[in-house]
Amino acid sequence: MPRAVVTVHYWSGLLLAGFILVHLLNHLAALAGATAHLGLMQLLRTVYRHPVVEGALLLAVAGQVFTGIRLARSRRVGARGRAERLQVYSGLYLAFFLLVHTGAVLTGRLYFGLDTNLYFGAAGINTFPFSLFFVPYYLLAVLAVFGHLAGVHYRKGSARFGEQAARRQALGLGGLGVVVALLILYGLTNGLRGLPIPAEYLKSLGR
Ligand code: HEM
Repeated sequence: MPRAVVTVHYWSGLLLAGFILVHLLNHLAALAGATAHLGLMQLLRTVYRHPVVEGALLLAVAGQVFTGIRLARSRRVGARGRAERLQVYSGLYLAFFLLVHTGAVLTGRLYFGLDTNLYFGAAGINTFPFSLFFVPYYLLAVLAVFGHLAGVHYRKGSARFGEQAARRQALGLGGLGVVVALLILYGLTNGLRGLPIPAEYLKSLGR
């Protein structure tokens, strides 16, 4: 495997991890209500919608998916131990999710002319039968982010912290992922009561 593939995966992964952390915090803000979510997104967009930052972010998505698929296919990360398998399978789901999700956001913005805010993200989750797809789609995405990090941490952290400690920390990361995924779902569904979605966002679902 060329060294450049590993290097690109590392650096684009770091950039994406920074964005994703902030992005998930933004979604957690829905626990405090739609206004809190919309307000925080407005603020964060001043950074990640800057053309240079957004250009780098979109390049990182493309770079991460391309190098991730190459790494998953190489013998270097051949699925051996459990941590390695978790890393590869969560990575493959993330590759699928990143392409579909980023494509959907760009289509919503550039083709449907929508403000791709809370209501855009929550429309499918709160509209039956689309929720049958979107609930597991988003839950798995958050779980895959934490699962991928847990797999990497266990494999790299064993040498530094010892295997037992690295395993505990990786399990902690996985547990945090489950909590974050469920809390985001709770927030985006208005505490499971259903979030009222403005009509223009339902059009992208064909309603
Ligand atoms: C948990 C459920 C999630 C929902 C409801 C959601 C929703 C959204 C929304 C509404 C946007 C548009 C933001 C804007 O216009 O300012 C967006 C952008 C984005 N999301 Fe998510 N997201 C979720 C999880 C994730 C995860 C887990 C990842 C990464 C693995 C991710 C990666 C991205 C990326 C890369 C963008 C594009 C940012 C840009 O404009 O350049 N999202 N998401």
